Amino acid sequence: MFNLNAVINQDLKQWPNITIKREDAIHPDVSGNKYRKLHLNLDAAKKQGKTTLLTFGGAYSNHIAATAAAGALYGFKTIGVIRGEELAHSVNLNPTLSFAANSGMTLHFVSRDMYRNKNNEQMIAQLAKQYGEFYLIPEGGTNLLAIEGCRSILTHEDAAFDVIATAVGTGGTITGIIQSALSHQEVIGFPALRGDFLTDEIKAWLDKDAIEVLAKWSLNHHYHFGGYGKTTPELIAFINAFYRTEGILLDPIYTGKMVFGIIDKLNRGYLNKTQKILIIHTGGLQGIAGFNAHQKSTNKQDIIIL
Ligand SMILES: Cc1ncc(COP(=O)(O)O)c(C=O)c1O
Repeated sequence: MFNLNAVINQDLKQWPNITIKREDAIHPDVSGNKYRKLHLNLDAAKKQGKTTLLTFGGAYSNHIAATAAAGALYGFKTIGVIRGEELAHSVNLNPTLSFAANSGMTLHFVSRDMYRNKNNEQMIAQLAKQYGEFYLIPEGGTNLLAIEGCRSILTHEDAAFDVIATAVGTGGTITGIIQSALSHQEVIGFPALRGDFLTDEIKAWLDKDAIEVLAKWSLNHHYHFGGYGKTTPELIAFINAFYRTEGILLDPIYTGKMVFGIIDKLNRGYLNKTQKILIIHTGGLQGIAGFNAHQKSTNKQDIIIL
C-alpha cells in the first residue's frame, strides 16, 4: 500500500551539496510526513477496536486530505472537523475538501471561534455524542505516536549529512527528526507560520518523550512569507523555477518556503557550501490545486505551473 522503497535521496543539480529526501514518493495521497504521522496512530486505533477516526483541520489542510485517504485505505470511517462555518454553504468545495469528501470523510464545519476549542473536553464530548466513539487525531496529526513515526524519516544512510532541514507546522515532524539525528548533525526547521511559540512546543514534545537529544537544532523564522498560507510572487516564481531545473515539485505552504530558505541561506553565506545538507520533502502537493484555484479566483497572476 505504501512504498517506502520509493523514498530516495536525490542530489540537486544546481546545488551540489544539497540532497532532497523524497518522502513525497511514499504514496500519492498519504505522502511525506503524513504517512509517518498517521500509520502508528491507525495501528493503535485498530488495536483499540475503533472504527472511526476524527480529526481537525483548515480548508486546505494536507492532514485532512491524508487522513481521509488513509482512513479509506485502512477501512475506517473518517470525520473531519473543518475550520470555517461559511464553507458549509459554498456551492463548490475546494479541491482538498472535495477530495476528502470523495474519500468518504464526513465534513463537520464549525465557526472559527468554535474551532479554537478543538482541544477542549466539552467539544470532544459533544462530537462523541453526535458521531459515537472515535479515535481522536489532533490537528496537524501531531501526538507522541506521530513523533515516533517521524523518527524513521532519517536512516543510518543519512549519517553523512551535516545539516538536516525540514518545514515546521505543529512541530511534530521536526521533533522526530531531532530525536533521531546524530551528535555531529544540526537540524534546522523552517516554520510555515509566524510566531515564536513553536520552539517551546518542540521543547515540550522533546521533554515528553525523554529521548536523549544528540543533535543541535534551531528554527529559522525568516521564511514564513507573511504567515500561514501566505505567499509572495517571489516564492511562487522560485517554486516554478525549482520545478523547471530540478524536476521536483514543491508546495507553496511548507516545502517551498523551506527550500527557498535553505538556498537563500546558502547564497548569503549563512551555510557553508562544503556542508552536506539534507532537505526533507514532506509532501503536501495536494494543496497546489486549491492554491492555484484560489489565486485565479482572486485575480492573482502567480500560480504554480504543474
Ligand atoms: C507538507 C507538510 N510539510 C511539513 C509540515 C509540518 O509538519 P508538522 O506539523 O509536523 O510540523 C506539514 C504540516 O503538517 C505539511 O503538511
